[in-house]
Amino acid sequence: MEFNVKSGNPEKQRTACLIIGVSQPRKLSRAGNQIDQASDGFLSTIIRRGDMDGKIGQTTVLHNVPGTLADRVMLVGCGKERELNERTYLKILDSLSRALDNIGAMEAYSYLSDLNIKGRDIHWKVRQTVMRMENNRYDFSQLKSLKDNNSKGLRKLVMNVPSRRDLSVGENAILQGNAITSGVNLAKDLGNLPGNICTPSYLAEQAVRLDKTFPSVVAEVLGEEDKKALEMGSLLSVTAGSRQPAKLICLEYRGGDSEQKAITLVGKGVTFDSGGISLKPGKAMDEMKYDMCGAATVLGTFTAVAEMQLPINLVGIIPATENLPDGLATKPGDIVTSMSGQTIEILNTDAEGRLILCDALTYADKFNPDVVIDIATLTGACIVALGRNPSAVLGNHSPLINDLIHAGKSIEDKVWELPLWDEYQDQLKSNFADMANIGGPDGGTITAACFLSRFTKKYKWAHLDIAGTAWVTGDKKGATGRPIPLLTQYILDRLQG
Ligand code: BES
Ligand code: MN
Ligand code: ZN
Repeated sequence: MEFNVKSGNPEKQRTACLIIGVSQPRKLSRAGNQIDQASDGFLSTIIRRGDMDGKIGQTTVLHNVPGTLADRVMLVGCGKERELNERTYLKILDSLSRALDNIGAMEAYSYLSDLNIKGRDIHWKVRQTVMRMENNRYDFSQLKSLKDNNSKGLRKLVMNVPSRRDLSVGENAILQGNAITSGVNLAKDLGNLPGNICTPSYLAEQAVRLDKTFPSVVAEVLGEEDKKALEMGSLLSVTAGSRQPAKLICLEYRGGDSEQKAITLVGKGVTFDSGGISLKPGKAMDEMKYDMCGAATVLGTFTAVAEMQLPINLVGIIPATENLPDGLATKPGDIVTSMSGQTIEILNTDAEGRLILCDALTYADKFNPDVVIDIATLTGACIVALGRNPSAVLGNHSPLINDLIHAGKSIEDKVWELPLWDEYQDQLKSNFADMANIGGPDGGTITAACFLSRFTKKYKWAHLDIAGTAWVTGDKKGATGRPIPLLTQYILDRLQG
């Protein structure tokens, strides 16, 4: 969809649909009052009749409103003014998208960006509108034989900004919103694709495609022989039961000057997690096709950053594999040697994410990183601890963690910290190796991060557990593209200060 910003009076806009806010109880917004005056009280009459209270979720479409140049005026309920905040603003946008789907307008001009949200400026409102509208429009029908025919529907949305001086701010917000959407849509597609299509090789092809699309991106894919040479015994143990070859995908984006150290992103790319010999129960096992959403986050963040041509350096590392049972598969009790030299007793083959990440995190040091952030659908325990609203963040450097928390708040893609205290490390003791790959039933997200922390001592590191946020379950099942907005915001913030 095309987005634009303009500044002007509502009654003067020649558009298929003017979008005007009404708050509770029956209160016209500033733009609404302007239309009301131009139309000799047309809107206030409608409101008085009780057709629009201003409740969130309510919309009414009016035709032939006198004194305007618009084909239609759509009134959108915005709730009580006092209660207007980030969350309700997004709800208002959701009801707007639904309403726009049901009318014939191909283009619209919205004054909802005039709404006042405490602490949020026009940049935030415009960018959030772009992201939310695109999020609601996303549709994955590439594998259905009858495609949804989306020829009807909105093609262009103009958002009003307070004055002409705000136009460039608005344009920048659109640029960012579009770039983040490109990344998010790529990640959603990759997540939603089934395991028989989105294999490790398929993920590698996506990296190569980014390399071909963006001159500043370089991709390199290591096969299993290369990993043997690198002695990635832990990563290789996970792919032992699979017929699909594992890939270690490396991406570099060079937008900053050459001596600037790179932000390094490491994404878990398990294209299907059956649990291996420690086989998972059947219920909802299909959702383990989403176990590569960390990898998709890396590819999506690269897309967003490359599209904006940000002046930074970025490295991406994706260990990609399946986790399947087979005669050659790794067994509970097996002991492997990681690239770092530390030995691991694999007590549960379903705790495979940490086994591939630990070697990727060791490998990350070769890039002399500034910070390393890994992203993984790592533990079901994360959903038990935090539910499905925030991702979990843990790490060894509190300024980095705080920056991530702050970035998440500002773009509505939140993270919440869990403690990574030494006390928890004891749960990983093994009688036969340097460590076990599981830490028992308690604090599973924390002990998983404790495991990773043994491979990240050389640099500033944060771990994002996205088990509860990377996709939604139920009848709206689908990938979310999180936490690409968060990571992109973190990178944008770094450019600021
Ligand atoms: N990919 C799963 C984690 C997961 C499960 C994410 C369900 C989202 C929903 C991971 O590989 C896994 O299986 N973790 C185990 C760890 C356990 C064996 C210590 C888990 O969470 O049960
Ligand atoms: Mn698993
Ligand atoms: Zn997994």
